[in-house]
Amino acid sequence: MFEFLKPKPKTAIPTFAPLGIDIHCHMLPGVDDGSKSNEESLACLKVMRDAGFEKVICTPHYQYPRFPNVESDIQNRYDSMLLDFTSLNAQNIPQMIGVAGEYRVDSGFSDRIKNNQFLLVGGKYLLTEFSLHQQVIGLDQVMFDLQMKNYEIILAHPERYPYYSSASSKLQHLKDMGVYFQVNILSLIGFYGEGPRRKAFEMIEKGWVEFLGTDMHNTLYAQALIDATHDRKIIKLIEKHQFLNSQVGSKEPIKTNKI
Ligand SMILES: [Fe+2]
Repeated sequence: MFEFLKPKPKTAIPTFAPLGIDIHCHMLPGVDDGSKSNEESLACLKVMRDAGFEKVICTPHYQYPRFPNVESDIQNRYDSMLLDFTSLNAQNIPQMIGVAGEYRVDSGFSDRIKNNQFLLVGGKYLLTEFSLHQQVIGLDQVMFDLQMKNYEIILAHPERYPYYSSASSKLQHLKDMGVYFQVNILSLIGFYGEGPRRKAFEMIEKGWVEFLGTDMHNTLYAQALIDATHDRKIIKLIEKHQFLNSQVGSKEPIKTNKI
C-alpha cells in the first residue's frame, strides 16, 4: 500500500558525457584504499558509464609506505582484471583504456624521477598528489627535475589541500610552470566539505583547471557521483567550461592552457 508515495531511487544521467574519459579513479581492486573486489569495481563503473564516461584510466595510489605498489605488478593485476571482466561478461561499463598511477610526492619520489619509474596517464601525463596534511618540502626542485625530463605534470585535486587557498601564490607558481590541475567532481558537491567545494569552483572560474576526475574509490563515491549528475550548478559548469579529458590518449597534439 502507498508504494507510489515512495521516492524512486535516483539513477545517474549522462551529465559528464562531454568529458568522455575519466583520468583518475581507483577501480583496480585490492591495491590501495579504492575498490576491494571486481564486483565493487563493476558497480562503480556502471554508475560512471551512466554518468557519461565512455572511457576510464585506472590510477592506483603509489605512496610509500602505505601503498608500496610496483608498476609491473600493477600492470599484471590490471591485465587480469580485464580478463575477469570478460569472463564475468561485464556490460554497460566504460571502455578500460589503461592503467597509470596517482603518485604521492613523498620521500621516495626523487628515486622514481631518477629511474623514470612511472606509469603515465594516456602514456603522456604524470598524475601527482601531495600530502593532505603538510606541504611538500623542496617542491620547486621536484617540479623542475620532472620538467627537465619532459614530464607533463597533472596535480590531482588542488582544492583538497587545506594549506592552499584558491589564491595561493604557490599554486599560481605551479600554473606558471605549466602544471595542469585536475579537480575532483565530488568536490563540487561538497563530498569533502565546504572548503574544497568553494575552492574547486573558484579554481575552475580562474581558468586554472584543465581536467575533472571522479577519483572514484567505492560505492559511497558512486552514490555521490549520481547526486553530482543531478546538480544544476555542475550541469551548467560542464556546459560552460572546456576540459581536456577527451583529448587524453588521442594522437593529436594536446591543446593546452600552458603559459
Ligand atoms: Fe585518487
